[in-house]
Amino acid sequence: MRNNAIDLAYVVAAGLFIVGLKGICHPTTARRGVRYGEAGMLVAVVATLVSRQIVSYQWIVLALVVGSGIGAAMAHFMPMTAMPQRIALSHAFGALAAALVGTSEFYLRTPNLGHFTMGALGVEVLLGFLTFTGSLMAFAKLQGVLPGRPITYRGQNVVNLSVLAVALAIVAYLIVAPGHTELFPLLTALSLAFGVMLIVPIGGADMPTVISLLNSYAGLSGAAMGFVLNNKVLIVAGALDGSSGLLLSVIMCRAMNRSFTNVIFGAFGKLEEGSAERADEERVVHRGSAEEAAMILETARSVIIVPGYGLAVAQAQHKVRELADALAKRGVDVKYAIHPVAGRMPGHMNVLLAEADVPYDQIFDMDSVNSEFSQADVALVIGANDVTNPAARTVKDSPIYGMPVLDVDKAASVMVVKRSMSPGFAGIENELYYLDKTMMLFGDAKTVASDLVNELPKVGTGV
Ligand code: TAP
Repeated sequence: MRNNAIDLAYVVAAGLFIVGLKGICHPTTARRGVRYGEAGMLVAVVATLVSRQIVSYQWIVLALVVGSGIGAAMAHFMPMTAMPQRIALSHAFGALAAALVGTSEFYLRTPNLGHFTMGALGVEVLLGFLTFTGSLMAFAKLQGVLPGRPITYRGQNVVNLSVLAVALAIVAYLIVAPGHTELFPLLTALSLAFGVMLIVPIGGADMPTVISLLNSYAGLSGAAMGFVLNNKVLIVAGALDGSSGLLLSVIMCRAMNRSFTNVIFGAFGKLEEGSAERADEERVVHRGSAEEAAMILETARSVIIVPGYGLAVAQAQHKVRELADALAKRGVDVKYAIHPVAGRMPGHMNVLLAEADVPYDQIFDMDSVNSEFSQADVALVIGANDVTNPAARTVKDSPIYGMPVLDVDKAASVMVVKRSMSPGFAGIENELYYLDKTMMLFGDAKTVASDLVNELPKVGTGV
C-alpha cells in the first residue's frame, strides 16, 4: 500500500517536472514553470523520506539543514551577474552527491552487484566525479580564480582521451569482474582528473555552454544512480536534466554558430590577434551627451532597446524601463530586442526585464525583431557588445563570424551605452562604434539611463 502511494507520488513528481520544463520555455509562464518544478521536487523528496528503507533520520536532518543553509546563502549573496558560477557550483555539488552514493553502493554491495547494476554504477561514478571537478574548474575560470584563457599543451587531446579510455576500461573490467575493489580508487582518481583536464583547455568565454553540458552529465549521473538504487523518479528526473542540459548547449552553440567540437577544442575567448595593436590605433568615435541623445530620442517614432551583459552589471533594468515608459508616454514605439546569448546565461536578459516588470509584448527575440531595425529611428544599445557586432556578418576571419547578431547597424541612428572602448566577452573590437551614425554615450548603464530620464522632460523647454 505504502509502496503504491510512493510510486504514485513519483509519477506526480515526474509529471510536475515535465510541466515545469515546458513552462520555463516562455517568459509569460516561466515563474509558474519554476513553481511546478519546485513542487515536483518537494513531492519526490517527501515520498522518498517516508520510504521504509530509511532507518534513521538524524543524519538526513543534519544534511538538510546544512545543505539548505548553504543553498540559501548562495542564492541570497551571489549577485545575478555571478549566476553562471553559482549554477556551476550547484552542478558540482549535485554530481558529487551522485558519485558518493555510487561509491557507497559499490562498497556495500560488492561482490553482489549484477553486471547491469555495475555498469550503471560505473557511469554514475565516472560522470559524477568528472562533473564535480569540471564544474569546479568552470566556477574558478568564471570567478577569476583561474585564468579564463585556454590552458593548452601539445598532445593534450591524446593525453585526455587516454585517461578517459583507462577509466572506461576499468568500468568495463568491473562489469565482468565486480569483486576487484582495489580498482575503484583508481577509477575515482582518473574521473576526478579527467574533469579538470576536460575543462582547463576551454576558454572562459565558452564556460556558459560548458556549464550547460556539465548539467547534462550531472543529470545522466543521477539517472544512472536511479538504475543502481532502483528509484524511478531519479531515472526520470536525471534523464530530463540530462536531455534538457544537452539541448540547451545545442541551442547556445547554434546561437553562436559554433559546433560542440569547436567549443570543446576551439579555444574561443582568446584576444583576437592584432586587436591590441588596433586598440592602440587612434580611431575616432562620436561621443555624445545625455542631452543630445534625449533630443534625438524625443523626436524618434520608433526606438529598439538592445540590452546586454552591461545592463546586468549595472543593474540598470529598472532605470531602462523608466526611460522606455517616458518615451512611450511621448508616443514613441518602444521595443526590446533580445539576442539568445546576450548576457552570460540563457534567458539572462528576459529575467532582468521581467524583474523590472517590462511588458512581455514589448520584448522580441532576435528572429522576430531583426527585420525591424531598418525601419527603426534609433537602436539604443545598453551594455551589449558582441551580440551587435556587424563583423559576425562581414569579417570572415573574425572569431564570431557566422554568429547571428542583432542588425542594429541598420537603424537610422545608433546609440551605444558602455563605460569605455573595452571589448566584450569575445575580446574583439566592434566596428559598430566607428560608424558615422553611431553616438557613444560613455558611462555606467544605470547612470546614463537615469540621465536620459532626467533630460527628456527638458527637451524643447530651453532648460
Ligand atoms: P558583451 O559582449 O560581453 O559586452 C558587454 C559590454 O557591456 C562590454 O562591452 C562592457 O563595456 C559593457 N559594460 C560592462 N559593464 C557595464 C556597465 N556597468 N555599464 C555599461 N556598460 C557596461 O555582452 P553581450 O553583448 O551581452 O554578449 C554576450 C557574450 O557572452 C557573447 O560573446 C556571447 O557569445 C557570450 N556568451 C553568452 C552566453 C549566454 S547563454 N548568454 C553563453 C556563452 C557565451 P565596458 O567595459 O566598456 O563598459
